[in-house]
Amino acid sequence: MKTFTFAVLPGDGIGPEVMESALAVLQKSADRHGFALKHEEAPVGGAGIDQAGKALPDATLDLCRRSEAILFGSVGGPKWENLPPAEQPERASLLPLRKAFSLFANVRPGLLYAELCPASPLKSERIPEGIDMVCIRELTGGIYFGEPKTTRTLEDGDIEAIDTMVYRKSEIERIADVAIATAQGRTKKVCSVDKANVLETSVLWRKVVTEYFAQKAPEIELSHMYVDNAAMQLARDPNQFDVILTENMFGDILSDEMAVICGSLGMLCSASLGVGKNAHDLPFGLYEPAGGTAPDIAGQGIANPCAQILSAALMLRHSFGQDQAASEIESAVRQAVTDGFRTGDIAFGKEAVGTKAMTEAILERL
Ligand code: IPM
Ligand code: MG
Repeated sequence: MKTFTFAVLPGDGIGPEVMESALAVLQKSADRHGFALKHEEAPVGGAGIDQAGKALPDATLDLCRRSEAILFGSVGGPKWENLPPAEQPERASLLPLRKAFSLFANVRPGLLYAELCPASPLKSERIPEGIDMVCIRELTGGIYFGEPKTTRTLEDGDIEAIDTMVYRKSEIERIADVAIATAQGRTKKVCSVDKANVLETSVLWRKVVTEYFAQKAPEIELSHMYVDNAAMQLARDPNQFDVILTENMFGDILSDEMAVICGSLGMLCSASLGVGKNAHDLPFGLYEPAGGTAPDIAGQGIANPCAQILSAALMLRHSFGQDQAASEIESAVRQAVTDGFRTGDIAFGKEAVGTKAMTEAILERL
């Protein structure tokens, strides 16, 4: 039997509760499709700090190295808020993981089912069919990681801080490849977002993307947009986009904007794909919900498990090659919502169910 191994890093807040739901769904899917799943759990984020003194303990990183994928919960919370920025659970776990596994491609689907339109801050008449788009964000380059990155006191006593934005052609091409692959499974439309009217990196970005698409995928309709305009267009008419391709910092900002117009964070999943191949010759990846730890509702059994379950589906698809199993999970989640099962964040006057009941409803439909 085919066996896939993955690291489970539940993290903090609602992370452990919704992780339990995802593991139950994965197990049922494995049974149905005749593959085996093996996982080990390790602390990360605040749990890592409490149990081993840092947000990404060495043993946790080792476990990830022995695995073919990482299923990540969420990290952070008020308890660790006063730590220095570089030691904060989110930054001190996600950034080193991205670097360690060269997780250069962040794939965030922006999906809002038509029946959940009231969850969006946009007027329903602007999005009658809901929203269905994907943001492809470069994740290991740009201003997040460029050198020099430093703060220094100058001779005149003034202080300056420097971040450096760097992109190489090869980095742009490999993320363009992910956008091409994504668009090929969709409507074959990509909008590349940059700031080529101001930034050198963006001038290179636009040139490389244009040439690469012309050479590798001339059938795809490629457009370009400045990031300030893209932020506006996303709020005005999100469905003009299908696949957005952009660099690290712009993607950080635009993907949050996309998330909020898609309504509940409890429904949004994401994949961060690496350059390396796993034992099954597929990309190593980290899979996590887009939302946070929701400390206000943690431990109450009312969190929405959908984002974690959908992240697990992305793991099956991208790192384990189980596309059909992944699609079935996505359909089961959709069907449960359509049938009226709603956690509090997506209830809008309907009776809200808890995490367990929501998970059961999804399992029954699988
Ligand atoms: C994200 C987060 C991270 C980022 C933070 C926690 C470092 O905002 O995944 O979008 O900026 O990339
Ligand atoms: Mg962000």
